[in-house]
Amino acid sequence: MPVASISSPSLNVDELCHPRPSFAGPVSYGALELPSRYLLSPLAGYTNLAFRRIVRQIGGVGLATTDLISANALVHLSEKTLRMIETHDEDQPFAVQIFGHEASVMCEAAQFLQERGVDTIDINMGCPVERIAGGGSGAGMMCDLGSTLSLVQSVVESVSIPVSVKMRLGWDSTQLTAPKFAREFEQIGVVAIAIHGRTRAQGFSGVVDRSGIRAVVEAVERIPVVGNGDVRSVPDAARMIEETGCQAVSIGRGALANPWLFRQLVEWESTGQWSAPGSFNDRLELLLRQFGYMIEQWGELGGIVRFRKMAHWYLKSMRVRPKLRNMLQQSKTKEQFDAAIRDIERAGPRGFDKTGVLPDMHVPVPSGPIDRW
Ligand SMILES: Cc1cc2nc3c(=O)[nH]c(=O)nc-3n(C[C@H](O)[C@H](O)[C@H](O)COP(=O)(O)O)c2cc1C
Repeated sequence: MPVASISSPSLNVDELCHPRPSFAGPVSYGALELPSRYLLSPLAGYTNLAFRRIVRQIGGVGLATTDLISANALVHLSEKTLRMIETHDEDQPFAVQIFGHEASVMCEAAQFLQERGVDTIDINMGCPVERIAGGGSGAGMMCDLGSTLSLVQSVVESVSIPVSVKMRLGWDSTQLTAPKFAREFEQIGVVAIAIHGRTRAQGFSGVVDRSGIRAVVEAVERIPVVGNGDVRSVPDAARMIEETGCQAVSIGRGALANPWLFRQLVEWESTGQWSAPGSFNDRLELLLRQFGYMIEQWGELGGIVRFRKMAHWYLKSMRVRPKLRNMLQQSKTKEQFDAAIRDIERAGPRGFDKTGVLPDMHVPVPSGPIDRW
């Protein structure tokens, strides 16, 4: 089916304005003042060093975090895990997110990270995957207030760098424990709470419950609450801030679809307006730069294999034809990759021009049973 039916060659950028928010001051994680209140939410397999460098270079990111890292693998100095916490001068301030259920291991991992110069540590209490939550880590920590508080307090006391927690609203709709956890965490020295407005049982289905996030904001006295979930655009972030009262917003999938979003948000906060996201050509340039960083870090084969997931987001947002997307995804060598890129560049975006604004891409929801993500 030809796509010539799409009449508009680019979008109306005059629409890029929205009343700006007002805040008392910048967001701080303990003594660490963040450069902006817009954070990159961890996405395992995507928010690797290469992608973090890209969004940092574009600008506007307040804090970026690694994918979730096993505290146990870290203390055993697993080579793969050590590679996952690699960082770069551009990647500042820098958080590592850890998961685990044994206090001694979590404390040892936190101390190890502090010695390596990590700015702040985030404890994962939101991962719904059975392999993690079923063992009492991730979202499994939301089921037992007493032992979770004791574990988190041990971690906070074992390091001098700030410790934050990322969680969901609760295990399911009958156990919305996040406000209670947040209140207790603040008392034991946790510096910030990031809250994804869904329960573990929900996975990624339905829409984010902003009133549930608001309940967490109301439960704490001073520490910042980071609202998270389904923010794809400046108006989405505005809604999150207006309806929840959160001090900061973290963005996961929306940043894969639009790596310019953090910069747009900072522009909006200071002027009420923001610039358009990148064109096909801009996105192609970012894709190549990020691919180059992957090769630098992982070598040719490792870089190509690890980049495939990310390439999918670039190519969809660039409106590349399925046949050419497949060609790039199937490339096994740098030569094949480069040949696919040449064809993609020649063909341009479906129904749009190479230098104009493209329509927002559809942001997919992880599918299948929660247990298997
Ligand atoms: C593929 C994928 C991987 C994720 N990995 C992590 C992770 O490692 N740690 C974490 O706390 N949350 C993880 N999340 C949850 C996100 O950080 C975020 O809370 C969720 O996607 C909702 O935000 P969004 O709508 O902005 O994406 C992941 C989500 C997805 C889709």
